[in-house]
Amino acid sequence: MTQYGYFDNDRREYVITNPRTPVKWINYIGTLAFGGFVDHTGGAALCKGDPANNRITWYVPQRPVTDFQATTLYVRTPAHKGYRVFSPFFVPTLDNPDMFECHVGLGYSRVVSEMHGLRVDATIFVPVGGSQEIRRIAITNVSDAPADVDVIPVVDYSHPEAIKQFNNNDWVPQTMVSRARTDAVGRTTLTQYPFMHRETRVNVLTTNLPVSSFETDRDRFLGYGGWACPEALQIRELSNHQAHRGQNIGALMHRLKVLAPGETRLLITHLGQYGSLDAAQPSIDLYRDPVAVDAALRELEGGWDTYLSNLLVDTPDPAMNAMLNIHNPRQCHTTLNWSRYLSRYQVGLGARGLGMRDSSQDVMAVVAGAPDEAKSLLKKLLRVQRPNGCGMHQFYPLTMEAVVGDAAEGEGRPDFYGDDHLWLVLAVTAYLKETGDLDLLTERLPFYDKDRGPIASGSVFEHLGRALDFTWTHTGTHGLPLLGFADWNDTMNLREGAQSLFNAFLFGFALREMITLMQHLGAGDAGAEYESWYAEMQRRVNTQAWDEAIGGGTWYLRYFDSDGSPIGSKLNEKGRIYLNAQSWAVMSGFAPPERAIQALDAARDYLNTANGLKVGAPGYDGFDPNKGGITTYPPGTKENCGIFLHTNPWMMIAESMVGRGERAHEYYSQINPANRNDRIDEFEVEPYVYCQNILADEHPQFGLGRNSWLTGTASWAYQAGTQYILGVRPTYAGLESIPASRRRGMDSV
Ligand code: GLC
Repeated sequence: MTQYGYFDNDRREYVITNPRTPVKWINYIGTLAFGGFVDHTGGAALCKGDPANNRITWYVPQRPVTDFQATTLYVRTPAHKGYRVFSPFFVPTLDNPDMFECHVGLGYSRVVSEMHGLRVDATIFVPVGGSQEIRRIAITNVSDAPADVDVIPVVDYSHPEAIKQFNNNDWVPQTMVSRARTDAVGRTTLTQYPFMHRETRVNVLTTNLPVSSFETDRDRFLGYGGWACPEALQIRELSNHQAHRGQNIGALMHRLKVLAPGETRLLITHLGQYGSLDAAQPSIDLYRDPVAVDAALRELEGGWDTYLSNLLVDTPDPAMNAMLNIHNPRQCHTTLNWSRYLSRYQVGLGARGLGMRDSSQDVMAVVAGAPDEAKSLLKKLLRVQRPNGCGMHQFYPLTMEAVVGDAAEGEGRPDFYGDDHLWLVLAVTAYLKETGDLDLLTERLPFYDKDRGPIASGSVFEHLGRALDFTWTHTGTHGLPLLGFADWNDTMNLREGAQSLFNAFLFGFALREMITLMQHLGAGDAGAEYESWYAEMQRRVNTQAWDEAIGGGTWYLRYFDSDGSPIGSKLNEKGRIYLNAQSWAVMSGFAPPERAIQALDAARDYLNTANGLKVGAPGYDGFDPNKGGITTYPPGTKENCGIFLHTNPWMMIAESMVGRGERAHEYYSQINPANRNDRIDEFEVEPYVYCQNILADEHPQFGLGRNSWLTGTASWAYQAGTQYILGVRPTYAGLESIPASRRRGMDSV
């Protein structure tokens, strides 16, 4: 049983104390406007505005954990022959630290380590609204002898078009350029850009201290020593080479001279992107001042105070408190910013931008803490809705270009996702209930045409109406909503004509939200039409999709395939029961009370494990082109009946709605990552954030977590914990507070 760290709730940090975590554990700094993630060994993936189209550092998550990742700090001291060179961040030199702490904080990471008689205390962050990553690095001689110390921060650049850095080794290296400028007191600023961006987008690396030499060409720096032992660091000075091409880096040699025992020096590094070096100068000057850096850190902290102060819980469950007060809302803020775009798993090379489905759900959890950001993202999402009401699946934030995702792939494939647009209704109404900002409904926003970009506009209210119309008018042979290319389960890609119960339930949920809104607005008649749609869809579901008469299961089916055959029925050999069909049947209010209990109990009997509820069972065992992506995974993995964590909070919500608060809390606790801190070897990923998936019991590595951070689990675990288990929920009439344990029955949406 290994522990790699502990929760320090007073400082709102998780502290990693052993650098040899099973996989890299990361933290986010800044926002999508400028920022990225920093791993616990100091490597940082940074971009400005868009990881695919404006990447700054070359971080490659697929590299082994021991490899250099885009940014580090070398320290060197004279040795018998040449120099002893080591990194206080552990990677890439892998010297064993005498002590190591990586404080995973709110918007900053602080690495404190001691090795070879030196203590380095480095705080890495992006100032609020800033275009620069700042590292405040205090170096202290903790030995009892004087130490002659050099420190060398290093950055490895990416071409801004992140994918080209990998797939074009002809054009890219011929375009990359670096320049150096040294001021009167010896402080050097390195600039780096691809030639075409010389006047528009310049990366800047500089520090607060004089520099004795620099390097900008990776191969000159490394020679055959590699990142663990760069040859250039065995020579007194770097070559002062200004790269005209090649793989560009920035390396700055600082000779701190002799530090007496106990003496500390402060180095501040600044890696930013600006229109030009001149434009950068005020920021460069500012962040050379330690007082300004400390003030920026305090401002960052203040922003988090505000964001987190909206709701504080105090329950008898300490792990729940730690998550709901700190780490979970913090993760929600991260998903709001990055959607599923940049992490160690979703590598931000352009295959995904921001998704309509994902971001809509992300918004729902931050409407109280970050209403302005929520609103601005909502408006972007509404702008990529198509005129017929369905959604463009993804968009790229820098260009606002939107795409249909995998939907238009191949002949006979539907060109829409059956659920995307419905999430807009949930997100907008969540925002309205929290803020009361009803003016949003009359704001006019354009629709998006996949061939012509933004086109004729409609009010936000009209956007929502068209979303509901689309589903109402796109039904299949059972009168149930078409699946489209996929629903929430992206990987079940049935043939054209298949119908999705998930879409039916989501439609029901969205209709209820719309009806409640219209009642609040006093628009009775239109609400009546939606009520009739609701009743009719409820009837269709309950007369056709309850498995008892089909396969004998006491649960809801998940799909009707294009030939009308059921999926998620006791009849099926594989994929016999699916979690979402049960939770959402209850969440939508479609399930009558008796069936609601039966469905939830069936889900518990067939799908619950000690590591969370599986998304379905049993898993498909072999590739089936008529099912698509789901069958590319072995059984027990991801959507193929793995523990897809995103779906677990929906069961917590459903159980809360039927008044079974204990069960809801049990489901909450069994996936709470904070409860895994002492069994991480099996789980592997960070204990301070939710991950997207855990391998289920059909897989030999049952319990292994993957794809941490950017997952809808964050938003829904927060909503389930606060609004349902604890029962504190915004309504148009004000805040309502009914804990799950005091709910009586089904009328509690
Ligand atoms: C991923 C996608 C999300 C989808 C889920 C299930 O998390 O980002 O959109 O709903 O997988 O397929």
